[in-house]
This record gives sequence, C-alpha cells and structure tokens, in this order.
Amino acid sequence: MSLMQIVDFQVLGDDRGSLVALETGKEIPFDIKRVYYIFGTNPGVARGFHAHKALRQVAVCVSGSCRFVLDNGRRKEEVVLASPNHGLLIEHMMWREMYDFSEDCVLMVLASEHYDESDYIRDYDEFIKEAS
Ligand code: TYD
Repeated sequence: MSLMQIVDFQVLGDDRGSLVALETGKEIPFDIKRVYYIFGTNPGVARGFHAHKALRQVAVCVSGSCRFVLDNGRRKEEVVLASPNHGLLIEHMMWREMYDFSEDCVLMVLASEHYDESDYIRDYDEFIKEAS
C-alpha cells in the first residue's frame, strides 16, 4: 500500500469561487485538536525531519506547493502537494521531510493532539529502531 494517503476534498464552487470544509469524522479521520500553518518559508529551506509516536495529521497546501517525503522505516515515497483540494494523511510513526516550498506556500496541518514535544522522534536512527 502506498504511504501517500491522499484525501480528496469536495470543493463547493459557485460563480464567486471555491470553498472547502473539513470536519472531524468526515474528511478528517480523527478529532482535530490543533491546527497550525507554515508560510513565508525561505528559499532552499527543508523542514520536518521527525516522526511522531502517536500524533496523526492531515497536511493541506492551501496555497502554492511543497514536496513531502514520507518514510515508514522500510521505504520512502514522495509527493508534491499543490492543491487546496487534497490532504495528505500522515499516520503516526512516519518520518517526514518537506522541501521545495513555493514562495506563496501556505501549508496547513490539522493534528489529532495538542503540541507535545515528548511525542516527537527527532533522531533518524532512533526512528528506525522504533519502527522495526
Ligand atoms: P518544528 O517542529 O521545528 O516544525 P517543523 O517540524 O515543521 O519543521 O516547530 C518549530 C517550532 O514551533 C518549535 O519550536 C516547536 C514550535 N511548535 C509549537 O509550539 N506548536 C506546534 O503546534 C508546532 C507544530 C510547533
């Protein structure tokens, strides 16, 4: 199975433009406890480089684009997120790296838990050990 679980969002469009609504239990398969977004990323910057022990997330590029690499400890896949109509579901114990942020990129992340530094695995060797 692909590591890239892309959720297609329904776009409610009319002659004024477009609207996407995201709800717990519908498009988002967990209770949303936190939302954060990354924007104004400087050229050449890469982010992420961690996994979470329990956290689940859905990442949406609501503007612009960026490239995601996901790694479950056995294999790596990458995808370009470039549409506000799609979300990338990132399960727990998935190493993630983000690259190639466009200047206009706004990357919104919906998360299943509040911020908790103790849920992070920031060391790749430790991740590989825990994942196997
Ligand atoms: P960081 O985890 O380095 O971001 P990324 O993994 O996307 O590169 O987070 C940057 C800083 O923001 C770090 O000091 C932790 C803080 N932070 C919060 O306080 N709350 C949050 O929800 C997130 C995601 C980060």
